[in-house]
Amino acid sequence: MTANSIADSFQSVRHFTVRLAQPLSAEDCMVQSMDDASPTRWHLAHTTWFFETFVLAQESDYQPFDPQFKFLFNSYYNTVGDQYPRQRRGMISRPGLEQIQNYRRHVDQQMIQRLQKPDFAAKHQRLIEVGIQHEQQHQELILTDIKHALSCNPTWPQYHALPLDRTADSAADGDSTRSKTPINIDEGVYEIGHDTNGFAFDNESPRHKVFLNQCAVDSVLVTCGEYLQFMNDGGYQQPQHWLSMGWSAVNQNGWQAPMYWIDVDDVPMFFTLAGLRPVDLDAPVAHVSFYEADAFARWAGKRLPTEFEWEIAAAQTTIDDDAPFVDWLLDRQLAIHPTRSPHGFCGSVWQWTASNYLGYPGYKPPAGAVGEYNGKFMCDQHVLRGGSVATHSSHIRPTYRNFFPASTRWQFAGIRLAE
Ligand code: AVJ
Ligand code: FE
Repeated sequence: MTANSIADSFQSVRHFTVRLAQPLSAEDCMVQSMDDASPTRWHLAHTTWFFETFVLAQESDYQPFDPQFKFLFNSYYNTVGDQYPRQRRGMISRPGLEQIQNYRRHVDQQMIQRLQKPDFAAKHQRLIEVGIQHEQQHQELILTDIKHALSCNPTWPQYHALPLDRTADSAADGDSTRSKTPINIDEGVYEIGHDTNGFAFDNESPRHKVFLNQCAVDSVLVTCGEYLQFMNDGGYQQPQHWLSMGWSAVNQNGWQAPMYWIDVDDVPMFFTLAGLRPVDLDAPVAHVSFYEADAFARWAGKRLPTEFEWEIAAAQTTIDDDAPFVDWLLDRQLAIHPTRSPHGFCGSVWQWTASNYLGYPGYKPPAGAVGEYNGKFMCDQHVLRGGSVATHSSHIRPTYRNFFPASTRWQFAGIRLAE
């Protein structure tokens, strides 16, 4: 990337974050509704802290905006220092939202000014690119976290009052070139991972070989209608579909349906960022845990693909221009909610894979604090692929590896089957 294009993408990503926070009041931005979610305010500050800590503070003439932010907005970097406890982020009312906005402007201005010098851009290129992609990850978390916060309010507030997308289905009905046939993979040795052409996170490398048995990966996502059949067939009552840990989670948490589904006068409704809506049976199911995805697959007589099967199958499709990512939806004034009939492998909902999140053969975390970014989480988590309606289209790649613990439900995560 040239210095100019880094400055451009820095500015547009920083601006997009502000755009996502635009519909929210200062009170909205303060709420932390569970340990896993953070207040919008914290996301706004932490993404700024990332550039300040890993780029600006490396320059001897830079003065920190506020020395206390080093502790307050550090997420998990022990190399940088101690951190304020994650589950108490909602207690921090000072700095106020306005002060956090000033912090953002200060760091933006410093970055943009310094990016005019080619030396600065060249010296910090990798960490600025990581900072940009990092901010895009937090853009997704701003949306999933505020959705959870708003869902705790029995008046079902709207993040935005926009229609849910209905365009994809008409395109699908009329377009027979968009095939529903599964993608077949022949037995053989395949190359997996990023080829280092363009940006990728460290966890997408090294590129390496895997052996795949013959398999077929569905070209379509599991819909709410299909998932409802599983529910109506007693899916949540029958232990034979479930992994042991999944069955425990069902019983301990009283799971009966995907997160955000509720029955109102016997009509299945779901909570969306545009408020409470009737469940759209043709839309891809979202907000299921790995356990639910796995149980559904077993009930359907199939299984979840491994992340390698997913990546090889995805390589046989393209990322559609009309795939539902957050920028695509907002540009069309559509609600941020999974749409029906997406066609490529990317967009709409993240897809749980059968694969544990591990380093690829020969993986080494990068040197320094940023080595804590991905590598130290390679235990007890599952890989998700494909991006969602909360992901920016410029953030996703076929090799992209998202990861969450198996019980996670508040992300826009759904199901693609294989056999
Ligand atoms: C890849 C989404 C699991 O939420 O911790 C944010 C993204 N990494 N800041 C997370 C991330 C550093 C990460 N996930
Ligand atoms: Fe972060």
